[in-house]
Amino acid sequence: MIRFYKEHDYGSASRRAADILSAQMILKPDSVLGLATGSTPVGTYQELIRRYQEGRISFAEITSCNLDEYVGLGGDNDQSYRYFMNHNLFDHVDIDKSRTFVPDGLDPDHEAACRKYDEIVKSVGGVDLQLLGIGHDGHIGFNEPGDSFDKGTHIVDLQESTIRANSRFWGGDESKVPKQAITMGIATVMSAGKILIMACGEDKRDIITRAFRGPITPKVPASALQLHPCVFVVGDEAAMGDLVKD
Ligand code: PGA
Repeated sequence: MIRFYKEHDYGSASRRAADILSAQMILKPDSVLGLATGSTPVGTYQELIRRYQEGRISFAEITSCNLDEYVGLGGDNDQSYRYFMNHNLFDHVDIDKSRTFVPDGLDPDHEAACRKYDEIVKSVGGVDLQLLGIGHDGHIGFNEPGDSFDKGTHIVDLQESTIRANSRFWGGDESKVPKQAITMGIATVMSAGKILIMACGEDKRDIITRAFRGPITPKVPASALQLHPCVFVVGDEAAMGDLVKD
């Protein structure tokens, strides 16, 4: 089952995504949420914080597992994804931070760090609902085109286009962007009970359409989601215009 939600703008898409996450949290207060970084989910996190402040949802029993982290960045680096999650969500809600997991970008033994992360995801019972953004090349997490669909957590060399897109966070200086990341694989993502993928803006229209209407191929990593039994695709009119006709 794939459900498409074409919302008017970024604000209403963020509220729709927060509705789906909130429903999961209300129905199963001890859910394991798979969380994502990037610009797209920021509005969703703000909406979740607002609902928490209004007493409508609680994170007290929630566990979270993030998708990815840059190799070489620790949580005190303001470009790390651990920092992003603390700053954009965890510091503002009643989540127990000892149950918020992000891959360890500082472990010098990369392979061990990947295996440990897969063990963590397994030991918490797997992800109930995985939130995703989508890259312009169809990546989810840091699974770039060409990666197979059958990987667990692994180390990736970032593609030039991703380094370029992310350099905005380093003042446009591509040389400062880490060149590797540790990411859940497509197999890890596909093992989640439900998937919520967001796409907003005209620049995501082509790739989100190819992901769900084009062939299923590792050349478009997000196309694997066509094989998942329960996917919610949420976006604004600019991104969703070709997927959902009026
Ligand atoms: P964005 O990134 O939300 O910043 O567009 C999405 C992604 O690259 O996965």
